[in-house]
Amino acid sequence: MSENFAYPVGLRLSGRRVVVLGAGQVAQRRLPALIAAGADILLISPSATASVEAMAEAGEVRWERRRYREGDFEGAWYVLITTDDPEANAAASAEAEARRVWCVRSDDAEAASAWTPATGRSEGVTVAVLTGQDPRRSAAVRDAVVEGLRDGTLAAPRHRTRGPHVALVGGGPGDPDLITVRGRRLLAEADVVVADRLGPRDLLDELPPHVEVIDAAKIPYGRFMAQEAINNALIEHAKAGKSVVRLKGGDPFVFGRGMEEAEALAEAGIPCTVVPGISSSISVPGAAGIPVTHRGVAHEFTVVSGHVAPDDPSSLVDWAALARLRGTLVLLMAVEKIGAIAAALVAHGRAADTPVAVVQEGTTPTQRRVDATLATVAEKVAAEGVRPPAVVVIGDVVALSARDHG
Ligand SMILES: C[S@@+](CC[C@H](N)C(=O)[O-])C[C@H]1O[C@@H](n2cnc3c(N)ncnc32)[C@H](O)[C@@H]1O
Repeated sequence: MSENFAYPVGLRLSGRRVVVLGAGQVAQRRLPALIAAGADILLISPSATASVEAMAEAGEVRWERRRYREGDFEGAWYVLITTDDPEANAAASAEAEARRVWCVRSDDAEAASAWTPATGRSEGVTVAVLTGQDPRRSAAVRDAVVEGLRDGTLAAPRHRTRGPHVALVGGGPGDPDLITVRGRRLLAEADVVVADRLGPRDLLDELPPHVEVIDAAKIPYGRFMAQEAINNALIEHAKAGKSVVRLKGGDPFVFGRGMEEAEALAEAGIPCTVVPGISSSISVPGAAGIPVTHRGVAHEFTVVSGHVAPDDPSSLVDWAALARLRGTLVLLMAVEKIGAIAAALVAHGRAADTPVAVVQEGTTPTQRRVDATLATVAEKVAAEGVRPPAVVVIGDVVALSARDHG
């Protein structure tokens, strides 16, 4: 076997003696992991860096302020040689070899009997990388793996049973890059994903084939309401021991019925994690170049659902009050009722020439923006064939970036 091939192993050092020679930068880097492993650490060095000294003061290592002496490795399971004295290092190395104690040397990897891998941790996984003689490459591989685990681009589903669980994940407005790191990781770990029509559909294509993707709009609901059928589907899959992600567009709690699902899960005794998402109400205007606030122009923005017409008795929105505000109004689900809404705002006093932008399919490759005023928006939306999903932005902030869209 090659001299450059090391046999990897995980040392369980709790309560076991580890001797560290030298207390410079190398020791400073290695000690925290040894401390975390619960090793009984004897540090031998005439001087130490300030950080190592602090570890000794905190009682995390026992520090003897002296040089190495023959016999120091008595009772040791593992030794690290990190001094810059070649003679002492060679003598210590020989003692380790004679005692058959695994020995790492920072000055001479060839003379060592053990190598320290580049290590990292994410979500309970320890990553350790050895590349023979190329520590920078080890570190680069370690970084890539830890980062991939962290953001879910490296799919590593858990196969332990952690009991029923559902994550309500806000997927952002549509661009797959606009989901959170946590959301993406949970998605990568899922067995079942219940997804809406809106949100980052592209992410679903990347899921491994064993993941069951359920279109929430297609869950049959027979004698139930559609939402009840979705809740039941989440509960059933979680109870069957699957790791379930409910992937929603934008943020789960902005017109997303996230709380209804969280309540249904709580009632069924199923733990649920809510992962916030980037709401279309802010990000879609932003993607079209419209800031929802701007110094000296708008000191507030109000997000309103436009799915119910202003004169509908079931409307909970005070359109007269909204018409009196000077700031930005952001309407979701408002394409269909935009004529009645614009008319109500004008009737209650908002200027008919207030700028309006309608942004369809924001943050996706098919994003488009149609500019109008309160007086013309209904006509423009019809003429341009604007369809949902679209966000309507009303207010002077729209004019800040209207130049290219008029
Ligand atoms: C049921 S609401 C859900 C909102 C979502 N929870 C959020 O925070 O963005 C759906 C509405 O959000 C808006 N919407 C969501 N994604 C959009 C996008 N990519 N472009 C434009 N509008 C979007 C549309 O107004 C759509 O009718």
